[in-house]
Amino acid sequence: MQFQVKQGDLSTAKTPCLIVPIADRTRLDGAAATIDKAGDGALSAILKKGDLSEDCGGIQMLYDLPGAQAERVLLLSLGEPEEWNRAKQRDALASAFGAVERSKATSATLSTAGWIQNGDATTLARDIAIAAIDAGYHFNQCKSDAKAPRHPLKKVILLTASRAETKDARIGIEQGRAIGNGMSLTRDLGNLPGNLCTPKYLASKARAMGRQAGGLKVRVLDEAAMKKLGMGALLSVARGSRQPARFIIMEYKGGKAGQKPVVLVGKGVTFDAGGISIKPSAQMDEMKYDMCGAASVFGTLQACLEMELPLNVIGVVPSAENLPDGDASKPGDIVTSLSGQTIEILNTDAEGRLILCDALTYVERFKPAAVVDIATLTGACIIALGHEASAVMGNDESLIDELKQASEEAGDRVWQLPLWDEYQQQLDSNFADMANIGGRPAGSITAGCFLSRFTKNYSWAHLDIAGTAWKSGKEKGATGRPVPLLTTWLIERAGK
Ligand code: BES
Ligand code: MN
Ligand code: ZN
Repeated sequence: MQFQVKQGDLSTAKTPCLIVPIADRTRLDGAAATIDKAGDGALSAILKKGDLSEDCGGIQMLYDLPGAQAERVLLLSLGEPEEWNRAKQRDALASAFGAVERSKATSATLSTAGWIQNGDATTLARDIAIAAIDAGYHFNQCKSDAKAPRHPLKKVILLTASRAETKDARIGIEQGRAIGNGMSLTRDLGNLPGNLCTPKYLASKARAMGRQAGGLKVRVLDEAAMKKLGMGALLSVARGSRQPARFIIMEYKGGKAGQKPVVLVGKGVTFDAGGISIKPSAQMDEMKYDMCGAASVFGTLQACLEMELPLNVIGVVPSAENLPDGDASKPGDIVTSLSGQTIEILNTDAEGRLILCDALTYVERFKPAAVVDIATLTGACIIALGHEASAVMGNDESLIDELKQASEEAGDRVWQLPLWDEYQQQLDSNFADMANIGGRPAGSITAGCFLSRFTKNYSWAHLDIAGTAWKSGKEKGATGRPVPLLTTWLIERAGK
């Protein structure tokens, strides 16, 4: 997708499609007012007919509208001004770009004028870029007849009123494009089926990213290297699979040489059948999405590369496949983690924490400023928060606050769950230092408690994205979350 920001008047813009926001239809302003004036009231006459829905996101396509030089004018209802907020702005833009995508227009023009303000041109531009990329996202890599959409939107032009606004909008477009493209990569990796997206595939993808982009150093550990280090917990998960595990390290050095890095650790279980504690078969296909945490690390790093963000960021992806087999780990098995702590595997389906705990110990060597792990970790998280919010937990309230703030800004929600000491005893084991499950009560929290035993030496937060990383049913597909949250957070940190 190509974006262009320039100063200009949209009533004279010659474009296949002009997107015109309508805030108050009785008192037109901004883009709508300009066009109405140039067309001697033609637009207000059309609005009086009342076909444009008053709900936020309502659209109506007009052709050859007097007052505009565009082939099409897409009216976009912003709804009640009192109810307007960032979320509505995103919804409205999604609706508009959806309509453009369905039309034959391959380029669209909007202006910064006429929106109900609740931010600056940077925020508006960021939302525009994300919405435009999102509307054009399709996953059809695996269809034999991979029909490309016939009239994809290729170009978006944003017109501004001043030089200052142009400067702000360009920053927003750059950030939004990086977030949008990062989300697309995350969605592609998530949607790719388990037979194609294996630990080896993720490693090759990382290497390819490293080759493409200067500034990304990639290293991959194979099982022999992991064994030598002592990653007994991670390796215990891969035992039941013919696919060997991989441990992927991607170092992005955008910051100063001595600057402590932010580390992102993503769960990369490329398929989770549960192992010997096998899952029921209904909807098991969706466990190809059990590497969405890893995918979000890839997507966020790609966004950093695209923005040339001045920050040091390290992405770490422990990756394995969790299947039942004669050689698979069994309930009751005890393994020794990289930290030296022993773990009784009471349920082989609680495998995410087993691969993450070794990764969380490994990243100590980077002396991180902060570590955030991202994982489709517990079904209990969906019971607690549904599909609206990811859960956030951790050992540093100020880090959690930063993430909460970034999540608000990005419209990529999180909700905090407590990691009180009292929950820790649910992990007691008679035979090892800890068990890998804590029973049914507070399942997401006890998973967080388990991880907290490996993160004592740095500032850490955990994101459980089980409910937010993908959608089920008719709209089945990866969402690209939490790339908006992570990228927004890193942008904030780089600015400080
Ligand atoms: N990947 C799953 C969690 C999951 C399940 C995410 C369904 C999204 C939808 C994870 O590995 C898992 O199986 N967790 C178990 C933990 C339990 C055995 C303590 C779960 O949630 O049932
Ligand atoms: Mn599992
Ligand atoms: Zn899993």
